Amino acid sequence: MSHYRKHHHHREEGARHRVAVVAGLRTPFVRSGGDFQDLSAVDLGAIVVNELVARSGLPLAEFDALVFGQVVPSPLSSLIAREVVLRSELPRTLPAHTTSRACATSIQAATDAADQILLGHADVVIAGGAESLSDAPIFASRKLAQALVAASRARSIPDKLKAFAGLSLRDVAPVPPALKEPTTGLTMGESAQKMAWENGISREAQDRYSAESQRRAADAWASGKFAEEVMAVDVPPRFQKIASADNNVRTDTTYDALAKLKPVFDRRYGTITAGNSSPLNDGAAAVILMAEGKARAMGVKPLGYLRAYAYAATDPGDQLLQGPAYAAPLALARAGLALPDMDVVEMHEAFAAQVLSNLQAFGSRRFAQEKLGRAEPLGEVDPARLNPNGGSIPLGHPFGATGARMITQALRELGRRKGRHALLTVCAAGGLGAAVVLDGPEA
Ligand SMILES: CC(C)(COP(=O)(O)OP(=O)(O)OC[C@H]1O[C@@H](n2cnc3c(N)ncnc32)[C@H](O)[C@@H]1OP(=O)(O)O)[C@@H](O)C(=O)NCCC(=O)NCCS
Repeated sequence: MSHYRKHHHHREEGARHRVAVVAGLRTPFVRSGGDFQDLSAVDLGAIVVNELVARSGLPLAEFDALVFGQVVPSPLSSLIAREVVLRSELPRTLPAHTTSRACATSIQAATDAADQILLGHADVVIAGGAESLSDAPIFASRKLAQALVAASRARSIPDKLKAFAGLSLRDVAPVPPALKEPTTGLTMGESAQKMAWENGISREAQDRYSAESQRRAADAWASGKFAEEVMAVDVPPRFQKIASADNNVRTDTTYDALAKLKPVFDRRYGTITAGNSSPLNDGAAAVILMAEGKARAMGVKPLGYLRAYAYAATDPGDQLLQGPAYAAPLALARAGLALPDMDVVEMHEAFAAQVLSNLQAFGSRRFAQEKLGRAEPLGEVDPARLNPNGGSIPLGHPFGATGARMITQALRELGRRKGRHALLTVCAAGGLGAAVVLDGPEA
């Protein structure tokens, strides 16, 4: 019995209580500073939500809430969820809230939505996320910020000017946000590099993994698998161009080309390169969740179901991106299922070194005993079931959008395979891990 079903079987006699995922859609994921540079995360969110709602054919009045997130929020619109509602065709009376769980932000949006549905507070909820790293906030240095505050308080022009005395050129330079872990001072890339060393993940293994993920993503695009889950977006300001595909997928990728790239996070001894990392992107993704009974009553055919989920965390000073190895066993236990039951394993690829480290932990008896207090490891993942249509390395990773992308992608693949269950994992800043167990339409 799933976590949800166990706790909610009292709601309607005889009814199975899962949350149905009835639709999912995303924009293409494009390189930051490119096609979407004139769009904010709110714009991208509204674009995808409008199109998703229209394609779903559900009457606007049926929606009960929207949950949406963004990882690097803009100080100009701090509550993205509500702004997305107000920029969309949805009723202006639709309540909305913003979620944040670093790279698992839209997983959090989806599980918040599921919780609301299972509590009986809502029947139809939109969940998703967006990111615009083209529009990331640029900060003033602490000294410049203090001078600006002092100047705004000063009464005379000379006093205002005096506030800026003593500032160096360095203090006046804008400060971009850092993808840095505050407690360790290491960037994501440096943290992944540390994991590669500690777990003995070779450069060759990372590049072979990345070449295969690129190949799978290119195949999925070429065979039309993404046609229904990725919408086209008119590119402002002139709207004479349409972005219709992810532009990180490199169909010309070969292992040999990847092997030649220079390491970036430790330029001398490192193994992590631009080719085996996820890139910096803009994009948005969303899903529609419904009470299973409501979907049935309305004759809506689900893509699948959200069966169970779990969040966990590890000490950021240990192995920052190992969160999935902690969250997955919990989610599977709550689902009452085991790793071999999974027909698809969709794992967010922050870095190949992180995916390979997570997989190593899944299969390690020592990790199970020392870190999880379990006698047996979770097990090995069959490579044919892992990210069958590519992951974040080739497809891209607009942080807030990735979780919602993965839910749709995993469920559509389950549908094609006529599979029963999928496991989805996301590693995130702060040492966080998220895991979701999804049921296919037939399960
Ligand atoms: C790794 C990172 C620094 C690379 O950024 P970048 O230098 O702008 O990357 P580029 O796309 O320009 O690629 C660098 C080079 O590698 C090459 N390259 C990248 N992918 C390749 C591939 N699949 N095949 C062949 N060559 C490739 C590019 O062509 C480019 O070559 P050039 O210098 O000759 O033009 C950046 O993507 C990054 O910071 N990623 C990590 C993001 C992160 O931390 N996310 C959080 C994780 S959850």
